[in-house]
Amino acid sequence: MIEISDELKRRLKNADKILFFTGAGVSAESGIPTFRGKDGLWKKFSPEELASYDAFVKNPDLVWEWYQFRRETIRKAEPNDAHKAIAEFEKIYPDVTVVTQNIDNLHRRAGSSNILELHGNIEKNYCVNCGKRFDYVEFENTNETPKCDACGGNIRPDVVWFGEALPQDIFKRAEQKAMASEVCFVVGTSAIVYPAAIIPYKAKEYGAYVVEVNIQYTDFTPDADESFFGKAGEILPELLNLAKEFHR
Ligand code: OAD
Repeated sequence: MIEISDELKRRLKNADKILFFTGAGVSAESGIPTFRGKDGLWKKFSPEELASYDAFVKNPDLVWEWYQFRRETIRKAEPNDAHKAIAEFEKIYPDVTVVTQNIDNLHRRAGSSNILELHGNIEKNYCVNCGKRFDYVEFENTNETPKCDACGGNIRPDVVWFGEALPQDIFKRAEQKAMASEVCFVVGTSAIVYPAAIIPYKAKEYGAYVVEVNIQYTDFTPDADESFFGKAGEILPELLNLAKEFHR
């Protein structure tokens, strides 16, 4: 059982606007490897070596195959108790937003309805040449980079790679939601990849009470108002129960 401060009780009671800022750790208990955890390597490559436009230009098939591998893992995965608890916060609070760095659709599958995906979505693809959009289902069994049927260009996943800009409209909305939030939960992220990692700092700057949930101390911990160290799939359901108990 977690112990929460009087201030968090007060916030859970009075808040209307809740923000979740999530990273790979929220999906870890669904069997999806985190980026910087010990399972993060694929065929000896780190995500930093694969998740960039340069890597794709140099070896598109290798990068495509990595994404196919990740799609398979993600498709077999199920939302865990953390995703489900986060979705259930919508039953208690009128304004709940999930700002996620994850590309795995698990928040959506768990039932969250207001999701801002800062780093794109692995189910979507587009042609690097003409921009035509494609869905994953069209390439179910392709380990080689598919070619665009309109122009012959290489098709890439619609995710944000290192060195690329975040989708500006989504990032702006995430910043606005962060600034308006009253309680911000930072769940399962190392919070070191910018600009995404600005979000919890923005929330704090504008008055939110910021609560971290992680299995370990992170770069964000010193700035969190309160931290819970443990698995998201265990702590989030407890926080949900406390929210149910205290919300007015
Ligand atoms: P990381 O792999 O950097 O961090 C995962 C975090 O989750 C770590 O702080 C772990 O301690 C924590 N964690 C692991 N298992 C957990 C569990 N069961 N419960 C709670 N916490 C747990 O992943 P992100 O922070 O998401 O970007 O990485 C941020 C971005 O860097 C990703 O979106 C991706 C990556 O490179 C791009 O691809 C652009």
